[in-house]
Amino acid sequence: MSSKPKVFITRQIPTVGLDKLRDACQLDIWPDDLPPSHDALLERVKGCAGLLTLVTDPIDAAVMDAGLPDLKIISQMAVGYDNIDLKAAQERGIPVGNTPGVLTDATADLTFALLLAAARRLPESIDYVKAGQWQTWGPLTLLGHDLHRSTLGIIGLGRIGQAVARRAQGFGMRIIVHSPSATAEKAEALGVELASLEDLLKQSDFVSLHVPFNDKTRHLINAAALHQMKNDAVLINTARGGVVDQAALVAALEAGEIGGAALDVTDPEPLPADHPLVGLPNVIVLPHIGSAGRHTRDLMASIAADNLLAGLRGDPLPHEVT
Ligand code: GLV
Repeated sequence: MSSKPKVFITRQIPTVGLDKLRDACQLDIWPDDLPPSHDALLERVKGCAGLLTLVTDPIDAAVMDAGLPDLKIISQMAVGYDNIDLKAAQERGIPVGNTPGVLTDATADLTFALLLAAARRLPESIDYVKAGQWQTWGPLTLLGHDLHRSTLGIIGLGRIGQAVARRAQGFGMRIIVHSPSATAEKAEALGVELASLEDLLKQSDFVSLHVPFNDKTRHLINAAALHQMKNDAVLINTARGGVVDQAALVAALEAGEIGGAALDVTDPEPLPADHPLVGLPNVIVLPHIGSAGRHTRDLMASIAADNLLAGLRGDPLPHEVT
């Protein structure tokens, strides 16, 4: 019987993270492509000092209690941690780590990929060629938004919101931001204008969401918000699906209240292939790949391992959620 602390990792993660853990821990790695069920989590966490989790794992009080008294650290390989009941972890004295910073650029890149794809109607254009519809160059064919001089509304000015703003500057866009915590100095330094949510929704050609998901941001984009947007505006979501009232989004798209949507996150995930959003020609749905760059995922796995090792030692985590 090994005396090393037992650690449950809820999926295969990049080797760089596993290599950091192997010498110090006895690893139990969930072998399937699909995440462990809640019951499986309850079972596998027993006797574990460490739990390395992903956004797909609901880590609630019951999972924590199943791991006690051994469980010392929950290390999430993601920046977002809305799948973890943070209050329950704090009440039990279990620190929670996350991986901020290293996925900022990858997520901002994907936001821009969605913005460009929606603006210039890339999915429809690709289908058009594949379907043999390309007969000639058409002066009125597949016209989309010009980015230059259009207005991008960014909701949330954390690391990712700021990285999206910097990219938008390169495209000559006007950038307006809604962020209750952003100061005028920060906005000026970034070259963006601050606005109320209502003004941002009314003025933007593209609205991009960069807020964490919590009780304050749940359904921030609801029917009333969608109604305020321009009829040809595009909603981009690389944050969390729950920030948008998805039923209201479908209704707004079907009624032509907004021009389109480009979503890397949905509610639920995965979104069934027969969901109305998947079938709409002016909607792009991606399978939550914001941070899915090879180097980015290596860095995330490495930080998640560092957080886990620090928690096992009882040291402060390099990146602790508070
Ligand atoms: C991904 O969604 C993350 O929060 O890192």
